[in-house]
Amino acid sequence: MRLVLLGAPGAGKGTQAGVLARRYDVPHISTGDMLREHGQLGTPLGRKTARFMQSGHLVPDDLVLEMVEERLARADARRGFVCDGFPRTLPQAESFAQRLASRGLALDGVVLLEVPFQALIRRLCLRRVCPGCGAVYHLEDRPPRQVGRCDADGSVLLHREDDREEVIRERLEVYHQQTAPLVEFYEEAGLLLRVDSARPVELIRADLYEILDPLSERSGDTR
Ligand code: AP5
Repeated sequence: MRLVLLGAPGAGKGTQAGVLARRYDVPHISTGDMLREHGQLGTPLGRKTARFMQSGHLVPDDLVLEMVEERLARADARRGFVCDGFPRTLPQAESFAQRLASRGLALDGVVLLEVPFQALIRRLCLRRVCPGCGAVYHLEDRPPRQVGRCDADGSVLLHREDDREEVIRERLEVYHQQTAPLVEFYEEAGLLLRVDSARPVELIRADLYEILDPLSERSGDTR
């Protein structure tokens, strides 16, 4: 299964991507998580990209493409992947398509998670994430059982630096300018699958399984 989850910040890409990756037995490739890990480890890439992420701007394409290329070259990605947050610009999407085509491959689908603007701001302001296992919470809609602690591994939950309202607004503007054009790009390629994502997580997930299970069966023979 080779899948991309597309959607504005807060659309629920991370919430759904991990579950889909487990269901289809492929790695979850989140460029946001990878970049945050570089930041925490203080790698040269992490130092170069921190200011873009903190201000809500995109990291330059060449840095992202190099990082993704390295990730896709690992053995587990031969089976496929669920990409979350990549591609995010037209040059990234074009380069990704060329990379796959040069290996005789293509994406199986691109899911667009659609959510109204105001709901996105509320979701992100109240999001908390587990630094240990990556679980995602919402303080009102999906609170952890114990205040401030991850249900799965007990880690202290974090409030992401870019989840402050002024940075969220900037990220949404950047999405509108630089990532929204990918909707047309993938629509023209016949790959776009729209999912109303302003509904409860479980209903969205059920729709995703219904749409994606047949794609996964078809892509099985090209692994
Ligand atoms: P990244 O980490 O990719 O952030 P993002 O795209 O802004 O997306 P988010 O992680 O904020 O949201 P999400 O859609 O995953 O929502 P989630 O499931 O968490 O990128 C961060 C930064 O890295 C970028 O700004 C950029 O600088 C850089 N970067 C990353 N990739 C790049 C690239 N390819 N090129 C250049 N730069 C790049 O859910 C959000 C909240 O909503 C949670 O609280 C959750 O519990 C809740 N929620 C989820 N679903 C529902 C639902 N159905 N109903 C109610 N609440 C819900």
